[in-house]
Amino acid sequence: MNLLNMLLISLFLSGCSCRADPLWNSCNGNTNISSSSRISANIDRLLAEVVSKTALTGYIATSLGKDPDKVYGLAECRGDVSSKDCLSCIRDAAKQIRQRCPNQADARIWYDYCFLRYNKDYFVREVNTS
Ligand SMILES: *[C@@H]1O[C@H](CO)[C@@H](O)[C@H](O)[C@H]1NC(C)=O
Repeated sequence: MNLLNMLLISLFLSGCSCRADPLWNSCNGNTNISSSSRISANIDRLLAEVVSKTALTGYIATSLGKDPDKVYGLAECRGDVSSKDCLSCIRDAAKQIRQRCPNQADARIWYDYCFLRYNKDYFVREVNTS
């Protein structure tokens, strides 16, 4: 095995094409839920939708499920970020936020390239994205 192959394999195993670790994340401790709850399943489905759609336009505001288990999601990539980098950032954000806030129904995560939030309460209008 040559050096290049070893390098490529170690890059692959590190598993992350994202540019950076999250800059900041926040789990709202007043929104604790069980990871086996319906709302938690809805968060997973919401995040799958966010990952598949955000990079198309660089922005998504969406919701999933029915009350009282409805969840709202918002994600945005920085305007100068390519759709490829946007996808990679959002994909990592969706994975990391669930690892960092596995039992909260309101969580946010910021990267240099993108931002992602979900909440069981409607929040989109109060978000200041400037
Ligand atoms: C929510 O869970 C976190 C960590 O699991 C805990 O620190 C916090 O006290 C909990 N909040 C409430 C309101 O129970």
